[in-house]
Amino acid sequence: MIKLIVGTQWGDEGKGRAAHFESKNASIVVRSTGGNNAGHTVVANGKKYAMHLLPSAIIRDGVTSIIAPGVVIDPEVLISEIDEMDKAGIKITKDRLKISERAHLILPHHKMLDNLYEELKENKVGTTKRGIGPCYAEKCNRSGLRMFDLVDRTNLKNKLEGSLKIANALFREFGYDEISIESEYELCLNSAKRLEPFICDTQSILMEANEKGENIIVEGAQALYLDLDHGDYPYVTSSNPNASGIASGAGIGPSKVDEVIGVLKAYSSRVGEGPFTTEQKNEIGDTIRELGHEYGTTTGRPRRCGWLDLVMIKNACFINGLTSLCVNHMDTIGKLGEIKVCVGYEYKGNKITYIPIDRENCKPIYETFEGWEVNNNMTSFDMLPENAKKYINFIEDYTKVKVKYIGIGADEKQTIVK
Ligand code: IMO
Ligand code: MG
Repeated sequence: MIKLIVGTQWGDEGKGRAAHFESKNASIVVRSTGGNNAGHTVVANGKKYAMHLLPSAIIRDGVTSIIAPGVVIDPEVLISEIDEMDKAGIKITKDRLKISERAHLILPHHKMLDNLYEELKENKVGTTKRGIGPCYAEKCNRSGLRMFDLVDRTNLKNKLEGSLKIANALFREFGYDEISIESEYELCLNSAKRLEPFICDTQSILMEANEKGENIIVEGAQALYLDLDHGDYPYVTSSNPNASGIASGAGIGPSKVDEVIGVLKAYSSRVGEGPFTTEQKNEIGDTIRELGHEYGTTTGRPRRCGWLDLVMIKNACFINGLTSLCVNHMDTIGKLGEIKVCVGYEYKGNKITYIPIDRENCKPIYETFEGWEVNNNMTSFDMLPENAKKYINFIEDYTKVKVKYIGIGADEKQTIVK
């Protein structure tokens, strides 16, 4: 079985938690798009783990974690994540982690370019400044460096020279310090020392596991509305984190996929700039932020918060071909006495249920629900309060997709299987 796990909103929906939960019966978990702009938190076995590049199942014994061709890797971040795991008692052996030789390298000049572009842009994206966009841009320009260049270093210096010629011209022009080839070369050599054992061909591993009938999970990063083609361009990331994109980034064809799970929060949150129709820039938004601990795992920024937007989720069901949904933070949103859900938009005098390109001109049309309280004794859907069941049933009726998992707390144990 091959299962994909994707975000249906603007990220931070709990994809890592869902991927770790699903990995119980899997032999492989793959991260296949984005980089350390992602922040995935898992609370399991009484411990909290935060991952940025490593797949969430890295903490599970017996599972092989793959960082696939579609990922962009900051080697220093990856090495420090490996070290952090070591400190937490999880030894990252070469059986536990495989890194594709095709994945691209994020180097210091990409991070500086990320800063420079943001500084110069009229409409700031609010990126994580981790060098993601400039690294993908160089990849598309066919001048990027890949993990393979750490292993076979024949052309490493030449390639660095090519990249830095362009980057340094910009740095000079805009008053930034230039980066020397030697410093990036040394960084590459040091990274190679640590990462070489993990770098390999990941495609053959996936194909072999699939032939043997083993279970493979692909853990998405980011989310549909941060998708380069289907999100709120230009307020998006530089990859395609939709289901087809993450399958492609991993090296898996569409007909090989058995299940696609879309993860959402029972409300909405967003970091960075861009349209947010149901945003609550008021006491309601502040309450959601505090109750849901809505501060970025990657940048620590307070997240913008608002009501659940089902127009977005329904669109996400189609684009991703979702077969089921995982609704998180049902405990959080239940604590609000009155809860709103967006079921359509008022746009140019009409009621619509699609997402127009200028969605900043949409006004939300809401349905109202009453709150609820959950506790840890509630271990099945039937045990949930009537109001919570109504909310979940409404999501299913609206989207025509079944809810499979319901999160009622940060700990993985607080997951209800419907
Ligand atoms: P996970 O996997 C939330 C947002 C950034 C910014 C935009 C572009 O944890 O859900 P980038 O650095 O990618 O060029 O920034 O995308 N962003 C995320 N927001 N969760 C994420 O990942 C994100 N990854 C990128 O805040 O608005
Ligand atoms: Mg996150």
